[in-house]
Amino acid sequence: MADTYDVVVIGGGPGGYNCAIRAGQLGLKVACVEMRGTLGGTCLNVGCIPSKALLHASELYEAAQTDFAKMGIKIDKVGLDLPAMLAQKDEAVDGLTKGVEFLFKKNKVDYVIGKGRIAGKGQVVVTDAEGKETTLATKNIVIATGSEVTPLPGVEIDEERVVSSTGALSLKSVPKKLVLIGAGVIGLELGSVWRRLGAEVTVIEYLDRILPGMDGEVAKNAQRLLKKQGMDFKLGRKVTGVEKLKSKLKVSTEAASGGKEEILDADVVLVCIGRRPYTEGLGLETVGIEADKRGFIANDHFKTSAEGVWVVGDTTYGPMLAHKAEDEGVACAERIAGKAGHVNYDAIPGVVYTLPEIASVGATEEQLKEQGRKYKVGKFPFMANSRARTNHETDGFVKILADAETDEILGAHMIGKAAGEMIAEVVLAMEFKAASEDIARTCHAHPTLSEAVRQAAMGVEGWTMQM
Ligand code: FAD
Ligand code: NAI
Repeated sequence: MADTYDVVVIGGGPGGYNCAIRAGQLGLKVACVEMRGTLGGTCLNVGCIPSKALLHASELYEAAQTDFAKMGIKIDKVGLDLPAMLAQKDEAVDGLTKGVEFLFKKNKVDYVIGKGRIAGKGQVVVTDAEGKETTLATKNIVIATGSEVTPLPGVEIDEERVVSSTGALSLKSVPKKLVLIGAGVIGLELGSVWRRLGAEVTVIEYLDRILPGMDGEVAKNAQRLLKKQGMDFKLGRKVTGVEKLKSKLKVSTEAASGGKEEILDADVVLVCIGRRPYTEGLGLETVGIEADKRGFIANDHFKTSAEGVWVVGDTTYGPMLAHKAEDEGVACAERIAGKAGHVNYDAIPGVVYTLPEIASVGATEEQLKEQGRKYKVGKFPFMANSRARTNHETDGFVKILADAETDEILGAHMIGKAAGEMIAEVVLAMEFKAASEDIARTCHAHPTLSEAVRQAAMGVEGWTMQM
C-alpha cells in the first residue's frame, strides 16, 4: 500500500476530473483513477466534444451549399472529405484530453491509469491493462464513473451498422439511409450531422413528441424546422427488431400502443434511447451501497449512504449533462475540504446543438401548470430581431416565464441561432433570483441576437417593441 490519499476519485470525466482538480487546488492529496486511457470521460472522448466538432463542420458544409450563394459568395463546387472531417474532430478531442492531463499535473493530481474497484472502507484497488493490482488507501472515495448507452432488447449494437452514439461519431462513409431510434438529444444532433452530409434520416420515437422534458412549444417548433430540413419523424412508434441482411438492415416497427407492423430499410441504425449509470465491477457491495432499480446511486449533498464515499455526475440523479457533473464535482471537493459546496439544480441549462439551437433553463410551462403556479409569459420571435434579419437567421423565438406576482424568472426556453450562448444570460439572472424586469431594463448591445432575450423579458409586462 503505497500512498494514503485524502481523496481518490474513480472516473476521469467532467464530474471526476473537475472534482480532482478542485481537490488539488484546495490542498488535498488526490488521485484520479481512469480506465479509458485518456482523461475527459464520455464528454471529451465520445460525447459533447466530438459531436460538436462534427456539428460545426457539417453546418459549414451545408451552409456552403445552401446559404453562401444567397449572400453573394460564389464557389464552384463544394466537396466532402469525410476522413479529414473526422480527423479534425479527433484532433479537437486529443488536444482537450491532453489539456486535462496538463491540469492534473498543474494541480498535483495523481493520474492512475486502470480500472478502480472499491474494496471496503478507504480502499480502492486499481487493475491496470496487464492485470497488475495496486491498492490506494484514502480517507474519501468519489464515485464518478458516469454512464453508458441504454441497450434496446433485440437490437444488437455492433458499432458498424447498428451503432450507438460512439459508432455514429466515426462512420466510415455517409449512409444512404440512417434510421434513428429515439428523438432525444443524441438523435437530433447526430441525425443533423449525417443528414447535412447527405443521409436520408428517419427518426422513430416511442412518444408522440420529440425531446421529452423540454418545453412543448419549443419542441414542436424544433420538429417543424428539422422536418423542413429533411428529417422524417415517425412518432408514437417502437422498434421491435433490426434484421441484418448482407446489403441492408430491415427495421421492424409498430405503433407504440401495438398494431400494424411497418418495416423500414436502413444502411445504418443509431440506437439513442437514453443512457444509464455505469457502476459495473465497482465493488459497491463492499461498502454497503445499493444502487436503485435504474442503477443510480442516491446522495445527500453528494454523500452516499456509506461513510467517506461520495457520488457525482451521471451516476447519480439529475440531468445527464457535462456541466451538471462538473459543478457537482467541484462542490463535492469543496464539501470534502470542509467548505460549503452547493449546486443550484433550478438553474442548470440544457442545450441541443442543432440548427437552430434549442436552449432552456428552469421550469417549462407544462411544469408550472402542473405545479399550479401562476406565471406570466414574454415571447419574442427572431423574425423581429434586426441581427437575425441581417444574417438571414430568423427561425425561432425566445420565451421567458416569470412569477405572476413577484416577477421572479422561473424559466426560459428558446430556439434560434446561438440560443446555446444566449441562455447563459438567463441562467445568471436566475442565479441572482432576478425579476424579468431586471433583464428588460439591462442595456443590450445593438444589433445582437441577445436583444431578443431582452425583448422577451419586456414582453412579460407587455411592452415588447416589435415591428
Ligand atoms: P463520464 O463522462 O461518463 O466519465 C466517467 C469516466 O469514468 C469514463 O471515462 C469511464 O471510462 C470512467 N470509469 C468508469 N468506471 C470506471 C472504473 N471502475 N475505474 C476507472 N474509470 C472508470 N452533455 C452536455 O452537457 N453537453 C453536450 O453537448 C453533450 N453531448 C453529448 C453527446 C453525446 C454523444 C453523449 C453520449 C453525451 C453527451 N453529453 C453532453 C453528456 C455528457 O457527456 C455526460 O453527461 C458527462 O460526460 C457525464 O460526466 P461524468 O463525469 O459523470 O461521466
Ligand atoms: P434522451 O433521453 O435525450 O432521448 C431518448 C429518446 O428516446 C426519448 O425521446 C425517448 O422517449 C425515446 N425512446 C426511449 N425508448 C425508446 C424506444 N424503445 N423506441 C423509440 N424511442 C424510444 O437520450 P439520448 O438522446 O440517448 O441522450 C442520452 C443523454 O445524453 C441525454 O440524457 C442527454 O442529457 C445527454 N446528451 C446531451 C447532449 C447535450 O446536452 N447537447 C447531447 C447528447 C447527449
